Amino acid sequence: MRILVGISGGIAAYKAITLVRRLRDAGVDVRVVLTEAAAQFVTPLSLQAVSGAPVRSSLFDAEAEAGMDHIALARWADQIIVAPASADVLARMANGMANDLLTTLILATEAPVTVAPAMNRHMWAHPAVQANLATLKARGVRVIGPASGVQACGEVGAGRMEEPEIIASALLAPPTAVRWQGRHVVITAGGTQEPIDPVRFIANRSSGKMGFALAAAAQATGAAVTLICGPNALATPAGVTRVDVHTALEMHAAVLGQDKMDVFIGAAAVADYRVAQPAPQKIKKTRDTDTLTLTLVKNPDIIHAVAQRSPKPFVVGFAAETEQLLQHARQKRITKGIDLICANRVDDNLAFDQPDNAVTAIWANGERAFARAEKAALATQLIELIDKVIEQD
Ligand code: PMT
Repeated sequence: MRILVGISGGIAAYKAITLVRRLRDAGVDVRVVLTEAAAQFVTPLSLQAVSGAPVRSSLFDAEAEAGMDHIALARWADQIIVAPASADVLARMANGMANDLLTTLILATEAPVTVAPAMNRHMWAHPAVQANLATLKARGVRVIGPASGVQACGEVGAGRMEEPEIIASALLAPPTAVRWQGRHVVITAGGTQEPIDPVRFIANRSSGKMGFALAAAAQATGAAVTLICGPNALATPAGVTRVDVHTALEMHAAVLGQDKMDVFIGAAAVADYRVAQPAPQKIKKTRDTDTLTLTLVKNPDIIHAVAQRSPKPFVVGFAAETEQLLQHARQKRITKGIDLICANRVDDNLAFDQPDNAVTAIWANGERAFARAEKAALATQLIELIDKVIEQD
């Protein structure tokens, strides 16, 4: 994938360096275009170093092919992201201006354009900025953020550029034709942590990546997505409502507390057992015994409880198995009341805490194997399959 990162002037321009890094980490070919104002905040040299390609800012570059760099770049890009997008660049884009390289190639491109606005909260709330934004949205420009919080000017409110990880994951999620506007999707992700004492817990190797990728893919359909996740280090996908939990009991309560649920996807690795009585103080090693016995009790099965709801949402589960993958997955689908289960082969380089995954989807009337793919790409394919199976039901 080839992404052109346009950077306009603003204190958030320094975050564009991380954005370029994240995109490169994901294997994206990146080119950077700076506005004149952006060059006051970040240097072309640092962006050249992270992008691995020359950085452009001038519309009139005698060294570029036939002096037509804007056309070449406009054709080259699969996607264009402007991050940060200042009030000024939004206004120029909305009015079809072409007075620098960035705005010119935005006019010249057929690639989808995304903006990540960043500005003072009063500027963001100004009717002129909102009108420009409405114009751009009506033309199909995607808007990510801004986030709320403490701003560089010391004020608190909406206008911070969205985090680079969130922008990168939105850009990397492949486009989908599925339309789930008005639907509510609830997804669990990550592993749970079951306390042994105040400093120790039983956990597993789930990173949450698969569930987060599914949340981003579901959100791209226009659905309202709630992501209920165990502890993890991932950025929340743009537009997704996140609920953080630690234990299986907390996840169970958070899931069952959702009143709107058309589709449920259980991608979490939920602990089947918890310590019956976690110690109130840190357990001490003793001289006289070499073993420690913990009594475990069964956790409630979240997905099974969801499958008993009336009306029943469409229920999607995962089965991570080290042996007899398909047999175990088929069995789990039936015993848990799951509509579609993803049999997930586990090995050292696959599934848990890996960037990619390979699954076989199993439902009442079919099975389909998905080749190993990056989790974002796989998530979009799974959402498309779920949509088809729901339509057939
Ligand atoms: O998070 P990553 O690092 O990206 O890894 C992704 C993954 C490998 C964890 C994920 O793709 C996956 O396979 N998740 C299911 C893990 C598993 O082993 O599930 P299970 O076989 O224990 O449970 C089967 C299904 O029941 C799952 O949908 C699970 O979420 C659900 N379950 C299990 C136990 C329980 N108490 N409540 C549940 O809802």
